[in-house]
Amino acid sequence: LGNGLAKTPQMGWNSWNFFACDISEDVIKETADALVSTGLAKLGYIYVNIDDCWSEPQRDPKGQLVPDPQTFPSGIKALADYVHSKGLKLGIYSDAGAFTCQVRPGSLFHESDDAELFASWGVDYLKYDNCFNLGIDPETRYPPMRDALNATGRTIFYSLCEWGVHDPALWAGKVGNSWRTTDDINDSWASMTTIADLNDKWAAFAGPGGWNDPDMLEVGNGGMSYHEYRAHFSIWALMKAPLLIGCDVRNMTQETFEILSNEEVIAVNQDPLGVQGRKVYSYGPDGCYQVWAGPLSGQRLAVVLWNRGSKPATITAKWASLGIESSTSVSIKDLWKHKCVTENKVASFSARVDPHACEMYIFSPLAVARSAS
Ligand code: GLA
Repeated sequence: LGNGLAKTPQMGWNSWNFFACDISEDVIKETADALVSTGLAKLGYIYVNIDDCWSEPQRDPKGQLVPDPQTFPSGIKALADYVHSKGLKLGIYSDAGAFTCQVRPGSLFHESDDAELFASWGVDYLKYDNCFNLGIDPETRYPPMRDALNATGRTIFYSLCEWGVHDPALWAGKVGNSWRTTDDINDSWASMTTIADLNDKWAAFAGPGGWNDPDMLEVGNGGMSYHEYRAHFSIWALMKAPLLIGCDVRNMTQETFEILSNEEVIAVNQDPLGVQGRKVYSYGPDGCYQVWAGPLSGQRLAVVLWNRGSKPATITAKWASLGIESSTSVSIKDLWKHKCVTENKVASFSARVDPHACEMYIFSPLAVARSAS
């Protein structure tokens, strides 16, 4: 969407994956504080996004949405002021239907009123869900909110949460700044890998202004191992997915912080070239040895070797599968060990990868590289 936003994928935090409906203005404020005090904000995690359950079950007599007075007693404007005072941005949530998924009022047929209300509160981001949609086509339901947000004069990031039902990658580039390509993620290896593969299909449609959204991060929520979370973060970064933290950043472990704060991996996600990396090659039992790659600015290539099998394995990336001439010599930097592993490498590169782990690299320079296909 040409609203000047999303030149690179959005980064921040969202309340749903950890808190679900158990949210309050205190949680949001403390999260904003924690993003700043941990240094995550400085690394680019600037959107603090409230998900479902912030509003009263009914609109007021004038037809306006009302924040739940128990959990958000000071109102959203005061919360936005607080979040802005920390140098961060505030996101909110509504639904392109009669109700949100947790049965709060939806914005369908209330687009102008709600957009104006959000803008008057100083909201910077809208996640727009797909529940209770009355069977109306999403290509009919999503553009009115885009136009209503635009008409407010406030620049508001527009995130479509249509779950990939009607192949939004094919039409949402003109509607939103990102669009969900899949059903909801859950905090498991099976969900994360399934979603990565589903999102991969739409790589060609992502770019500055509009990104495929394979849903928010589960890193730090406890259902996956360290290696699995590291693979989750690496692949999301490579796929130019939104990096929206979904854990309780007030209480995260050092391990979680280390994953989320890897500056070199974040830089792959935020690279100005804005090309979504893809699975370029897989082999072995059930294709569990996988090579994912995508071009970066400055004649570089990001490469992930991912072992989806249950035993340690040596995984090889051949230049041919990366779209590089065999004779091209490259230096290779390991983004998790933070060191150069080899220089002047030709033809192929192999590494030992633990089960469910990945290793992530930058190959450079690639003056004669073709783009990874
Ligand atoms: C849907 C969305 C989730 C979350 C919930 C909230 O399931 O896909 O990301 O917003 O609704 O109810």
